[in-house]
Amino acid sequence: MNGKIGRDLSVARSILLNNGVVGIPTETVYGLAANALSQEAVLKVFEIKNRPKFDPLIVHGASLSQLSEFVHKIPEPLLRIAEKVWPGPLTIVTTKKELIPDLVTSGLDTVAIRVPQHSLTIELLKSLPFPLAAPSANPFTYVSPTRPEHVMHQLGSKVGYILDGGACSVGLESTILGYKNGHVQVLRLGGMSVEQIQSLAESPLQFPKSNENQSIPGNFKKHYSNGREMIDISDLEAVVPLSNEARLFYSKPQNPGPSDYWLTDSNNLNEAARNVFQRLRQLDQPNIDKIYFEKAPDEGLGRAINDRLNRASEKR
Ligand code: TXA
Ligand code: MG
Repeated sequence: MNGKIGRDLSVARSILLNNGVVGIPTETVYGLAANALSQEAVLKVFEIKNRPKFDPLIVHGASLSQLSEFVHKIPEPLLRIAEKVWPGPLTIVTTKKELIPDLVTSGLDTVAIRVPQHSLTIELLKSLPFPLAAPSANPFTYVSPTRPEHVMHQLGSKVGYILDGGACSVGLESTILGYKNGHVQVLRLGGMSVEQIQSLAESPLQFPKSNENQSIPGNFKKHYSNGREMIDISDLEAVVPLSNEARLFYSKPQNPGPSDYWLTDSNNLNEAARNVFQRLRQLDQPNIDKIYFEKAPDEGLGRAINDRLNRASEKR
């Protein structure tokens, strides 16, 4: 089954040059990549994921200077942050040039861009004459993939090749920043903590709510779901799980039982971030109907972890 997972950049490159789709590793999650300048190639990405066309994609480049060809002047405050963080788990939304097809941006006049931090993918991007549009490589609304096997398992039959870059080192999607009325806005919490971004920004960050304006397309409530009912419980130790139930702790409990799972052995937010999607996948088992979970501490990457757990627990 593993014929399609490998580390051969020339295979990945030739598929992409021929308008095909490849699974690519990044530090955040695996992406489903296609030539961002080809409407035909990008259409395949939407079809494979079963993703609605009003949910725009992120365009990945090897460097800020490569990506600059496809956008108008980037607002100074976003540029300053991107220069310090890239390559890294950050995406910025800025005004696009015509070269980027409307399909990529769902018809918006802005495009989301990022330089990922993964040596294989950077090498691939450098070898291509175009940037790569890539959403996370999971079926629409399901848990994001953090290992090549995750992509193989769900989309293997539809994807030409999956580039094996091992387990993702961050494990949560990039933090997305926009700029409006003179303020840097956090459009999606993610793998770069708000505290780190605030330390690089010159004025206080804003956090628009998705229902307050239209700047966060595709930021659906229900997302990252493994199909199980998930219930947020503050005193998780007090819950006694039935045979079809599991408990998902933040930190390893004192005396774990067979239906107990946890995000970190040692109260470490980075470890918890790396594990959260893997745990949600492990819990996608026929004998589990309901998952009781507790939140991570509401700081650093804990805020993004809690965002993913909250969305995974949304009813619809
Ligand atoms: O870490 C990541 O960002 C991963 C890896 C593969 O790079 N990608 C990822 O893509 O998470 P995806 O498609 O799962 O999420 C992209 C989100 C969209 O749902 C939307 O909320 C936002 O990016 N987005 C894209 N273009 C936008 C735009 N022009 N304006 C505002 N938000 C945008
Ligand atoms: Mg996604």
